Amino acid sequence: MKAACRQVTQAGKTLGFVPTMGALHDGHLSLVRASKSKCEVTTVSIFVNPLQFGPSEDLAKYPRTLERDAKLLDELGVDLLFTPSVAEMYPQGAKTYVVVEELNDKLDGASRPGHFRGVTTVVAKLFEIVRPDYAFFGQKDAAQVAVLRKMVTDLDFDVQLVVCPIVRETDGLAMSSRNAYLTPEQRQQAMVLHRSLLRVQSAVDRGERDSATLIEIGRQTISEEPGARLDYFAIVDPDTLDPVADVSRGALVAVAAYIGSTRLIDNILLADVSGSRSPLPSR
Ligand code: PAJ
Repeated sequence: MKAACRQVTQAGKTLGFVPTMGALHDGHLSLVRASKSKCEVTTVSIFVNPLQFGPSEDLAKYPRTLERDAKLLDELGVDLLFTPSVAEMYPQGAKTYVVVEELNDKLDGASRPGHFRGVTTVVAKLFEIVRPDYAFFGQKDAAQVAVLRKMVTDLDFDVQLVVCPIVRETDGLAMSSRNAYLTPEQRQQAMVLHRSLLRVQSAVDRGERDSATLIEIGRQTISEEPGARLDYFAIVDPDTLDPVADVSRGALVAVAAYIGSTRLIDNILLADVSGSRSPLPSR
């Protein structure tokens, strides 16, 4: 993979990279399309990274559909597909990890200790193998984006991150490989995540700016669905992941909830409505 990628960049072509864990859906494919339209050559990786799963998480049952995935990527015209084994990525005796301190303990990092250490370590390794000009990530995993941005800045990675919007099912559920775990009944219950975000958005549209009030609206919505168990409902700065008290300057509204034993996440970005950057006075 290194040799193939170096050949591309030495020929002066732009190289796009889409890291995934496979079980591809339209969310993943939107990243591939974005890379195809921006870059001359596109590499995709499929690697279910054991390092980012906790001991009681779903590593063993995580969906693996490599043959189907490879066909989808081929149809989209992906140039290079990298599917390393665990032994190749983590040779016995590997002792080096990449950790973005503080950020890695926020949002999903708080509920999934060690998760972001696994993500940053594998993405740093993949970046070094591929050395892409552009790497494509989904807004779906908003905390992952914040952690990876910080890693790229702090370690001077020569790659530009491109963040693509969340792709949803027609009823609003954010696409996720983990949706495959849901029973038809749970699939209905799972819609409460997006509904909670829409309620917050409409409260903001009506003029509500106080995060505590908005969080209460979100929590309340989740609690109305008996099949859902809230993990977190947070309103934070999208870069630092620190809570913001007031959403006037924009904010990330993020939710994580269990439907049965399946943990799902979703989020929306609130726009800056403070007008503080406007060159003209509002009156
Ligand atoms: P995975 O969950 O397979 O997701 C791969 C990429 O697809 C991530 O950037 C994710 O944000 C994006 N994605 C997933 N669902 C999406 C949706 N509905 N809309 C838009 N984008 C979506 O995220 C990972 O894998 C791993 O942590 C990885 C970065 C590959 C490191 O192992």
